[in-house]
Amino acid sequence: MDKFVVEGGARLEGRVSVGGSKNAALPIMVASMLSDGQSTLRNVPALKDIKTLSKLMEILGSQITYSDGVMTLTTPEFKDFEAPYDLVKTMRASVYVLGPLLARHKKAKVSLPGGCAWGPRPIDLHLKGFEALGAQVTLDAGYILAEADQLVGTDIHLDLPSVGATGNLMMAATGAKGTTRILNAAQEPEMPALADYLISMGASIEGGGTSEIVIEGGKPLHGAEHRVIPDRIEAGTFLVGAAMTQGDVTVTGCDPDHLRATIAKLQAVGAQVDVGEDWVRVRSTSKPKGLRLTTEYYPGFPTDLQAQFMAMATVSEGVSVITEEIYRDRFSHVPELNRLGADIKLTENIAVVEGQPHLSAAHVMATDLRASAALILAGLVAKGETHISRVYHIDRGYERIEKKIAELGGVVRREDEPLVT
Ligand code: EPZ
Repeated sequence: MDKFVVEGGARLEGRVSVGGSKNAALPIMVASMLSDGQSTLRNVPALKDIKTLSKLMEILGSQITYSDGVMTLTTPEFKDFEAPYDLVKTMRASVYVLGPLLARHKKAKVSLPGGCAWGPRPIDLHLKGFEALGAQVTLDAGYILAEADQLVGTDIHLDLPSVGATGNLMMAATGAKGTTRILNAAQEPEMPALADYLISMGASIEGGGTSEIVIEGGKPLHGAEHRVIPDRIEAGTFLVGAAMTQGDVTVTGCDPDHLRATIAKLQAVGAQVDVGEDWVRVRSTSKPKGLRLTTEYYPGFPTDLQAQFMAMATVSEGVSVITEEIYRDRFSHVPELNRLGADIKLTENIAVVEGQPHLSAAHVMATDLRASAALILAGLVAKGETHISRVYHIDRGYERIEKKIAELGGVVRREDEPLVT
């Protein structure tokens, strides 16, 4: 397993481009299985999760090529309809295959996703939605079995604006007879991106990106071309890195419109933010001020940037209060940040962070994708060399992050970490 060695003290300065959005690419890859035609996706990031999903889709019958960000996908027919536990347990997004399998193959057997580092993450809203569309859903030995001779359009009111449920049900509804309305739908940018791709395949979808999405099912679908939107979480990670190191970073190839809540918070801590057509620049010449932050569904502040902003809070002036409303126990980075000398006190889903003059290097452990990014940022403001183990987490969602941070002047080395016997 690899580890990162991060040298503290650098200011992040310069320009860095972001890759395609992991959380847009994953459902769009799966959506290509709704047709037997060939699709071509551009700006697909080279990430572990993308590889994992490709492997799963090939088991199900897809033929996939990938080179230099361009992916072609064709699923002439399904060879299998089962998503095995050993793949689903490593990547929850595997449950997206339920929608297309149900719509086109009328049958799906998918392992229940394992709870991730911060607690169980249910998929009850996905399953209730499939039942509303007329599918029979049963659970057996840790597997979901869903069958439907013909899905029938209906109104589905989501209890929560779940991204996964919205995407899964949008895909399934394209194969249902009649009209489906998804109410209280997720508005994260990855959802209108999925709708745009489905529309380019021939689907009839209105309202992608709003809380009410209307799908006219039964249209014949064909392969399509699509360019994956930029990754707003990768962009936000570099922007907060600039603010907390008193740096000057321009993130290019991003969509500033997807970063409004993030930009507002960076301005609130005193950073200077300039915004262009497809770039955002963050400059800071003083320590960030303490902040109050609550994670919300989009367009609120994204939970996927909570850990990174907490890393900044550990060296801000004064006290910060961070409330996590999406995954109330998404705080596995807290004990690791405290090992670096942070002063974070947790009560339920609220973290109170007392800013310190600096952190002090230590050996820490990555626990999940976004916590890993937070530890790298914290290492940049810790005196000495911080060693971060289990960086396979970060490779799931960041392409060559150590190279990109090095391009900005940060010193991050990837080293072999001998397996502890
Ligand atoms: C997506 O996960 C993202 N993953 C997550 O990013 C992100 O944190 C999350 O949305 C929230 O923005 C992908 O897009 C692949 P949800 P998802 O369904 O779809 C509850 C990353 O770092 N819920 O919107 O799984 C759930 O427990 C990852 O890239 C139910 O109760 O998230 C959570 O509290 C981490 N029942 C809330 O809804 C359900 O059936 C939001 O979850 C589904 C969800």
